[in-house]
Amino acid sequence: MSFQPHHYPGMFISFEGIDGAGKSTHIPYFSQLIQERFPLHKVLLTREPGGTVLGEKLRQLLLNDAMDAKTEALLMFASRQEHIAQIIEPALKRGDIVISDRFTDSSFAYQCGGRGLKIDELNALEQWVQSRPELGHAYLIQPQLTLLFDLSAKVAEERRSSTRNPDKFEELDLDFFNHVRNEYLRRASQDPQRFVTIDSSQPISSIQSILKDCVNQL
Ligand code: ADP
Ligand code: TYD
Repeated sequence: MSFQPHHYPGMFISFEGIDGAGKSTHIPYFSQLIQERFPLHKVLLTREPGGTVLGEKLRQLLLNDAMDAKTEALLMFASRQEHIAQIIEPALKRGDIVISDRFTDSSFAYQCGGRGLKIDELNALEQWVQSRPELGHAYLIQPQLTLLFDLSAKVAEERRSSTRNPDKFEELDLDFFNHVRNEYLRRASQDPQRFVTIDSSQPISSIQSILKDCVNQL
């Protein structure tokens, strides 16, 4: 495993996967491993949509209100812009380790894979919000490491339904989540240096071992 070059002293890691794949289960354990491995760094846990006061208000709208797919994509990126400007970029400049529950891969997976928006449309938003030409041609603020929790849409739905009431996305059908999953896997195969894909059908303890190996290689 090797990691993407990064211009800031901090480290940026994201967790991704379809709803119910296990992100929330593993983030606390992973964060603890990271803190033990890098005791001198501050570890900052955050999430999208959200992560700022305005972002959390946008999250409420995004998870509850029906809206056009383009509005949804724009609000996801509005939340992301606030998140980067207020939280992520300052933290990376300070040398902190930022662990985000979802980032832009979610937009490609859900708004393109799931909702059917064009990849080029999202590429344009990603460029607008995340490019930093002063740091180099084609430089984007993005995670150096993305842990993709991969699980079939069916098993994820079963896991979700046993524990929580569905939000707007979680009410969508298996077909939607199959498309989201496929877009995640396509992106992971295109960027194998950044992604670590974890088979989430394994027991929690096996996934924890994978996370340990992963942290030891950082
Ligand atoms: P996410 O945050 O990705 O939506 P969660 O971490 O909330 O997913 O997991 C959804 C449900 O599945 C939770 O009830 C959790 O306890 C359970 N779960 C998570 N990982 C596993 C696993 N590897 N095996 C069995 N159940 C799991
Ligand atoms: P999540 O935080 O995983 O929800 P929960 O707290 O219920 O585990 O994610 C919120 C939802 O937002 C999830 O269904 C995916 C969706 N989402 C997008 O559609 N696009 C995005 O860009 C992001 C960040 C999230």
